[in-house]
Amino acid sequence: MTQPLNLGIMISGRGSNMESILAAAESPEYPAKPVLVLSNRTDSLGLLKARERGIATMAIDHKPFGKDREAFERHLDAALRDAGVDIIALAGFMRILTPWFVDRWAGRLVNIHPSLLPKYKGLHTHQRAIDAGDQQGGCSVHWVSAEVDAGSVIQKARVPIAPEDTAEQLAAKVLVKEHALYPVALAKACQQILKNKPKNKKRPAKSGRP
Ligand code: GRF
Repeated sequence: MTQPLNLGIMISGRGSNMESILAAAESPEYPAKPVLVLSNRTDSLGLLKARERGIATMAIDHKPFGKDREAFERHLDAALRDAGVDIIALAGFMRILTPWFVDRWAGRLVNIHPSLLPKYKGLHTHQRAIDAGDQQGGCSVHWVSAEVDAGSVIQKARVPIAPEDTAEQLAAKVLVKEHALYPVALAKACQQILKNKPKNKKRPAKSGRP
């Protein structure tokens, strides 16, 4: 079997999507091996859950960096490279990434968004779908590009919207779909990278600390 890609997962909160990826990655067939879970919040519940599964974790608080997003990202980048990460899954990571970071990880950075992209980029996706009278909501896993929630879609999953659904009820239904979709779409992204990877290509060099 081809060697799995080293996976970094970036979170900010409860990490339920992270958990579904970690569960899928327990299979020896899965094309990614989690090597680091990184959060921008020291109190993320997801960090505890990852540690319970024996995965290395790190918290890098964005607040001391103030408006200097790139300085914060240089620390993220160094941690990911030091862990030998090949592909990053953003799973509820609530910081917008600058073009500097996105460029450095171009073609190796995926995200899950709780809408049927290209509809409802940004926040409050479920309420916006309800307000628009949509019959369906859902979620999308996509490659990350410099423009927020605009990279090419890898795979989507749909749920019907009932007339009585509140945004919270719709979010709960979509979340169930997210947990099923993300591991599958991430595996697809890994296969695409592995297919294009030249044989004997070395992993990216470890960075010096910023
Ligand atoms: C999910 O709805 C995801 O689509 C969005 O943020 C939420 C994260 O939830 N980007 P969790 O931390 O994975 O439970």
